Amino acid sequence: MDKLVIRGGNPLLGTVRISGAKNAALPAMAAALLTEEPVILENIPHVRDIETTRKLLSAMGAEVELGYGRAKNRTTICCKNLSSPEASYELVKTMRASTLVLGPLVARCGRARVSLPGGCAIGARPIDLHIKGLERLGAKIDQQHGYVEASAERLKGAEIVFDKITVTGTEDLLMAAALADGETVMQNCAREPEVADLADLLNKMGAKIEGAGTATIRIKGVPKLKGAKHRIIPDRIEAATFILAGALTDGDLNISGCEPKHLGALLQKLEEVGVKTKSTRDSVRVEGSSALKAADVNTEEYPGFPTDVQAQYMALATQAEGTSIITENIFENRFMHALEMVRMGANIKIEGRRAVVRGKSQLGGAAVLASDLRASASLVLAALVAEGETIIDRVYHIDRGYENIEEKLRGVGAQIRRIGEILPKKR
Ligand code: UD1
Repeated sequence: MDKLVIRGGNPLLGTVRISGAKNAALPAMAAALLTEEPVILENIPHVRDIETTRKLLSAMGAEVELGYGRAKNRTTICCKNLSSPEASYELVKTMRASTLVLGPLVARCGRARVSLPGGCAIGARPIDLHIKGLERLGAKIDQQHGYVEASAERLKGAEIVFDKITVTGTEDLLMAAALADGETVMQNCAREPEVADLADLLNKMGAKIEGAGTATIRIKGVPKLKGAKHRIIPDRIEAATFILAGALTDGDLNISGCEPKHLGALLQKLEEVGVKTKSTRDSVRVEGSSALKAADVNTEEYPGFPTDVQAQYMALATQAEGTSIITENIFENRFMHALEMVRMGANIKIEGRRAVVRGKSQLGGAAVLASDLRASASLVLAALVAEGETIIDRVYHIDRGYENIEEKLRGVGAQIRRIGEILPKKR
């Protein structure tokens, strides 16, 4: 298993280019299931979750063509012949977003069989809201042997009010409703930019969707969708991670190819902390400070402070003077990184959904374990300011969602390298 070795202490200086958003690319790839014609997606990041989705679609009979050379971030998906509308446990267990194929498969094939995801490191993460929504659209649902089986001759438009805001739930039902008979009105929808990006793609494919990016989405179902070409939006979580890296290393970083208007909650928080940022249409320049001030954070649905940036913000909070209270409102068990940061010398107490971080602490390099995708990014940030060497184990988590993280960090002055497991010699 690969490990990352990081020697802390260097301020990050220079320019980092942001990749396409993994969380927008995953539903976009699933949307290709809705049509017989090819869907061309640009700005697809090379990360493991995308590779998993490629395998998932290929196993159903889809042709997935990856670009190379200058077109390496382009993927063409053609779902003309779907042999088996099924997502196996083997794939769903490594990536919960695999459940995004449920809605499109029932809508296009009239049936779907998708493994239930089960628990994960950051909490229970059920998919009951996806299922309830599909039932509202007229699907018959059967749950057996760890699988959800959904069937419907043709889905029918309906009113759906989400009990709780869910990002992939909104996306899953948006795709299902696009091919349903009649109008669907969904309320209490997720307003994340990734939902709006998916709606943009679906509308290019001939769907009739209004209001994506707001709490109420109206979808006029159409009988058929066609192929389209679409460029995925920049990854706001990757951008946030690098902005925080620049801020906490007292660096001077230009984060290019991003969408500053998707980063409002973070940029406002950084102002409170004493970090200067300057945005243009598609870049953010961040100047760190050696005198960071503590500030509290509450994770919320978009446009609030993202749960996917909570762990990385905690790394910054260890370097701020005073007490920062970080409250996690979206997932019940998303503080695993805190325990690892404590092993590096941070002063963090967990009280239920709150983490109380007292700073400023001088962190020291240690051997630490990454527990999930964003937790591993936060340990990289902590390691960048720690004295000495940090070795991060289980970095396969980071490879799920960050494209070329070592190259990007090395390019702006970080001392980081990857080491593979040294296997004992065979006799
Ligand atoms: C998406 C993101 C993930 C991010 C999360 C919250 C993708 C691929 N992943 O995950 O990076 O951390 O949004 O911003 O886009 N819930 C239910 N029932 C359901 C569905 C969700 O109770 O059927 C609960 C979850 O347990 C959680 C909350 O709703 O407490 C929000 O989850 P949700 O928005 O669905 O997260 P994901 O879409 O899985």
